[in-house]
Amino acid sequence: MAEFITGMKRTNYCTELSAADAGKRVTVNGWVQKTRNLGSLVFVDLRDRSGIVQLVFDSDTDKDLFDKAESLRAEYVLAASGVVRHRSPEAVNSRMATGEIEIAVDAMRILNGSETPPFHIDDKVNVSDALRLKYRYLDLRRPSMSRYIMMRHRIVKEAHDYFDKQGFIEVETPSLCKSTPEGARDYLVPSRVHPGKFYALPQSPQLFKQLLMCAGFDRYMQIAKCYRDEDLRADRQPEFTQIDLEMSFVDADDVMTINEGFIKRLFKNVLDIDVPTPFVRMPYSEAMARFGSDKPDVRFGLELKDISEFARGCGFKVFSDAVNAGGAVRLICAPAGHYTRKEIDGLTEFIKTHGGSGMAWIALSDAGVRSSLGKVLTEAEIAEIIRLADAKAGDLICIVCGKSGPVYTALGGLRCYLGDKLGLIPKDKFAFLWVVDFPQFEYSEDEGRYVAMHHPFTMPKPEDIPKIEAGDLSDVKANAYDIVLNGYELGGGSIRIHDSGLQQLMFKALGFTDEDARARFGFLLEAFKYGTPPHGGMAYGLDRLVMLMTGSDNIRDVIAFPKVQNASDLMTGAPDFVDDGQLAELSIACTEREKE
Ligand code: AMO
Repeated sequence: MAEFITGMKRTNYCTELSAADAGKRVTVNGWVQKTRNLGSLVFVDLRDRSGIVQLVFDSDTDKDLFDKAESLRAEYVLAASGVVRHRSPEAVNSRMATGEIEIAVDAMRILNGSETPPFHIDDKVNVSDALRLKYRYLDLRRPSMSRYIMMRHRIVKEAHDYFDKQGFIEVETPSLCKSTPEGARDYLVPSRVHPGKFYALPQSPQLFKQLLMCAGFDRYMQIAKCYRDEDLRADRQPEFTQIDLEMSFVDADDVMTINEGFIKRLFKNVLDIDVPTPFVRMPYSEAMARFGSDKPDVRFGLELKDISEFARGCGFKVFSDAVNAGGAVRLICAPAGHYTRKEIDGLTEFIKTHGGSGMAWIALSDAGVRSSLGKVLTEAEIAEIIRLADAKAGDLICIVCGKSGPVYTALGGLRCYLGDKLGLIPKDKFAFLWVVDFPQFEYSEDEGRYVAMHHPFTMPKPEDIPKIEAGDLSDVKANAYDIVLNGYELGGGSIRIHDSGLQQLMFKALGFTDEDARARFGFLLEAFKYGTPPHGGMAYGLDRLVMLMTGSDNIRDVIAFPKVQNASDLMTGAPDFVDDGQLAELSIACTEREKE
């Protein structure tokens, strides 16, 4: 039977105790990490969210208590009282925060027992992710996991404090919303009261925060839950959290500056790291040309080089055709190493699985130059590529040609892959930058039309508005900015359109008919009639921020109860079938059901 805690509530978390507390009577509450029985002494490592402290039970002091201590098993829940004392010199454990002390226990209650858990609660545990997620509450007892979640709390607290000091007001926005296309697929919620109608869960609070600016709040922030039904990756969850911000009467520079202040304070207060500001502001076109990515990892070099001009007139038709068709030939030059044929074939495979059609290469080994282009280019042409690549002995030049976008994607991916493989990335560095001057529109091959690169509410650069009016969307720049950290898009935002006419022009450019735009966004267009101030803002992916600050490489680690790849929750079993009665009430009939 579980005993009661009355009279034995904690005086200290386990790792608050140190040699300075020797002689003090304390009570600790926590879980049994492990026990060691030495015959006349039982040692128990007791764990709480702060860490571990050692308890000692002595058979000479209290036989009944000692017998009780002998019955303890892993994950039993205890309240233990006793006096803190120094360990004997040979028992001091310098690897433990509380390694100099122990508690000589004189009273203990077993507040609950535990079955043998499906895995040992330890950071070194080697079990499948599926098992960890099924028993997430046990997984979260592991010190690294609890550190992640506690650091997440610190980060959120810093966000509240900083933005509060800067005059931001936290306002909650609804979760049951109108479906408005914003990029990803919506999660829909059927309405019982309005048969056949659906709410959508918000992909972000974008329009509400704009309407809060219209309402005059001037500076808004929210820790906002967002929902997007999209393919999951290591840095994507269907349900995630943003630190969401909006400001009135500002330009892009104001938004970026205030956020540099946030990052600086956050990293100082949480990690004691000085982040230099202001951050580099790199145009999108430069980010693509140098790094093949709009979220470049600038902790290392290995930059792309464009050899299209050379390739246009070279003897290899595949290259010259690519350039003459409006595409490009680009390369990266991997630093000296011994690249075997098998490794080079592996890199070619990498390129093919990352959107490239193939890879040409030149290897500068001690034995001379080897190249996949030996039969199609002259020696002089190969020498020219080596010169353009600035390659040295031992280097490997990797060349990709084709349409510009896929060439960037393939080489940008290869750059990160090689950077990691060759150990070029300083893992302890945090390299921030803003990517600015994004295109307003991007061409969607799938849809056969231009779509908004950020969202339809982004202000174009004023000088490009006439191009939109003239129907030319190919080269319009947006007043948008992304904050990038170590190759991740940490957040993004923009100055917004606040003029009804310009917003309507934007909808039209994106292919909405007037009726469509009114039906979906009428409330926004209506608001623009009543004195909406100029405004802009941004949103951080909180989960990504926590992931990068904790040094984890998977977003799941920093979300207490995450979903897996197929968007299900292995612990609760969501999503799940519901009763026919519930469906009937919602006027819903399923045409298809997954096999049970
Ligand atoms: P955006 O769509 O760029 O902008 O989202 C902002 C940031 O949210 C994070 N993020 C995600 N994190 C985890 N899982 C996901 N599925 C996911 N999707 C996005 C990213 C991203 O940079 N309303 C605009 C912001 C604005 O314009 O103010 C928006 O939502 O870190």
